[in-house]
Amino acid sequence: MAQTWTPNSWRQKPIQQVPDFPDMAALSAAEAQLATYPPLVFAGEARRLKSQLANVSEGKGFLLQGGDCAESFAEHGADTIRDFFRAFLQMAVVLTFGAQQPVVKVGRIAGQFAKPRSSNIEKQGDVELPSYRGDIINGIEFNEKARIPDPERQIMAYRQSAATLNLLRAFAMGGYANLENVHQWMLGFVKESPQAERYRKLANRISETMDFMKAIGITSENHPSLRETDFFTSHEALLLGYEQALTRVDSTSGDWYATSGHMIWIGDRTRQPDHAHIEYCRGIKNPLGLKCGPSLTGDGLIELIDLLNPQNEAGRLTLICRFGHDKVAEHLPRLIRAVEKEGRKVVWSCDPMHGNTITLNNYKTRPFERILSEVESFFQIHRAEGTHPGGIHIEMTGNDVTECTGGARALSGADLADRYHTHCDPRLNADQALELAFLLAERMKGGRDEKRMVVNG
Ligand code: TRP
Ligand code: MN
Repeated sequence: MAQTWTPNSWRQKPIQQVPDFPDMAALSAAEAQLATYPPLVFAGEARRLKSQLANVSEGKGFLLQGGDCAESFAEHGADTIRDFFRAFLQMAVVLTFGAQQPVVKVGRIAGQFAKPRSSNIEKQGDVELPSYRGDIINGIEFNEKARIPDPERQIMAYRQSAATLNLLRAFAMGGYANLENVHQWMLGFVKESPQAERYRKLANRISETMDFMKAIGITSENHPSLRETDFFTSHEALLLGYEQALTRVDSTSGDWYATSGHMIWIGDRTRQPDHAHIEYCRGIKNPLGLKCGPSLTGDGLIELIDLLNPQNEAGRLTLICRFGHDKVAEHLPRLIRAVEKEGRKVVWSCDPMHGNTITLNNYKTRPFERILSEVESFFQIHRAEGTHPGGIHIEMTGNDVTECTGGARALSGADLADRYHTHCDPRLNADQALELAFLLAERMKGGRDEKRMVVNG
């Protein structure tokens, strides 16, 4: 693979999931305009994330990656962003405290706009229209005008990403994420939530620990790590024209970086080794995710790793496994064995969402029990293989939606109609997300105690 890479070398390759832009001149104009805009993230930040992920690949941390299936232009309020960030921080604190390991925090946010679709056409009654491909491409409304791909939407998506990122940076660095606020993150959390009491207990223990530290002179004023957190952004790098326009040379290293987000991933539908998405991603230096579904073989995975991480750099590649609760035991072990046999450094992450989607009462939904079950199996399999279950990748919101069934509140199929707001796939609500975090923390603690016993025994 000695062919030279350039930010546009992907254009020479076959490509999947391309929108049918009617006006190519308008598309080029929008891309040219984007190319003049400032980067959304910096190369140094992407390197920092990579080094944190390198730790995870060595078993010394856990990756929490989550957010909307698809962000939307219509829902871009400060409250939505804050509620997401609060739920995400609650999960992170539960995992950090429970697992006693650093948690690498990566949102599916500030750029997660483009969606791969299984069909180019959506049919309602007798009417056929182009499928909705995410707000960065066309509109979700089922009419002809909305569904025409519009390049101006890329400018909108860029600006929304910049505004979202700006608020998230303020939250992460400006005091909101201070561990002294661990109780305040409860405010606005659904009062009768079954997780509320559990969370309050944990928050009490953290506050007690903080009080003890304060007594011995360690405070958030003299220790920024108590009041700040590294929060990174990620999205699927599906719309390559947009990605190319934001691909820039880092002046310190001379390397190319995607500056649309810190980490980008390649979808299960666009990971053909000789196609455009792999070509684009192999040339940029950001941490990458690769979605691994049931059709991926061990050899196929090694071929992709050769392309995406030829130097075997730790932290470069996260394998995001999405098999389904009933298929994970069949497919995950062969991938783990192939990677172990070849000595490749990867982060193993579990996406328990995308393999567990069903239709119920005409709603796309995901039973919470199946999500938990896939995560449980993922942990068990890694324990059995002697590898590190390094993270999870979830679709979630900070709001009280009714999109996934089950959970401690036992949402039923009949409840789905109440608050089904997603623009694409069903997300965990704040309650379900926190419940998942508690379960994970217990599993991780279990693994640690086992290790201790081995050391001591
Ligand atoms: N800086 C540490 C970290 O990010 C501790 C921390 C501060 C933290 N605020 C947090 C951890 C909020 C979880 C959630 O891990
Ligand atoms: Mn999705």
